[in-house]
Amino acid sequence: MGTMWRVATILVFLFGLSLGCDDNDVAAYKVTVRTLWSEETFPKDYPQYRPRAQWSQVFGQSHNTSYALFRIGETARPSVRQFAQTGKLDDLVDEGDDEPKVYDQFSAPAIGKGVGVTENMVFVNGEHSLVSLMARIIPSPDWFVGVDSINLCVDSSWVDEVTLDLDPLDAGAASGLTFTAPRWDTTPPEAVFRHKPRHPNHPASGFYYPQLRELPTIAKVEFTKVTTSRA
Ligand SMILES: *[C@@H]1O[C@H](CO)[C@@H](O)[C@H](O)[C@H]1NC(C)=O
Repeated sequence: MGTMWRVATILVFLFGLSLGCDDNDVAAYKVTVRTLWSEETFPKDYPQYRPRAQWSQVFGQSHNTSYALFRIGETARPSVRQFAQTGKLDDLVDEGDDEPKVYDQFSAPAIGKGVGVTENMVFVNGEHSLVSLMARIIPSPDWFVGVDSINLCVDSSWVDEVTLDLDPLDAGAASGLTFTAPRWDTTPPEAVFRHKPRHPNHPASGFYYPQLRELPTIAKVEFTKVTTSRA
């Protein structure tokens, strides 16, 4: 057993060295968020003015497996609910600064229309190779798009490029059904959930498209490896 363990350790070590996301190896990724919230694709109640359809800043973090920014099916913490409801980042940033499970934090500029693109960079290392991010849908009670823990180190190697399709999520913090509903706090908050054509199953619901099986993709995020180095 002892020998097996040592052999396994040496193999993992060699593999890590040759392929490059060993614990201390650092990689930089460009994060590009493309939003696809057009009136053509999402005609129901498409917000035209005060405010017209747009997006908050994107906020993201790299972290290890002991940490989640948010998780579908779990109640979001207050800083996440606040960002989803108001677009305010201060508490999230402060918490992240103090959190040893978080390696890097970034934000990308807001997009003033439903359809647009924004980008920034994120640093990951072998011990913190997961990335999560969020952007608030404006106007909305507490809806957002997000990524929970995409791993950029796969089979001991940094992923070159990966693109994810994003769906609208609900932070469970406010109970309005429509984009412009007055914001009633949900007390206690509910778990984060994914909007679907019939969920919430109410004709007033902003993403209610009973004739569709799935919602069109409302945003995409692309991670592109830019540099890697050995610390
Ligand atoms: C994540 O990071 C924290 C802080 O450094 C550490 O205590 C924890 O063990 C790490 N989790 C894993 C799975 O390595």
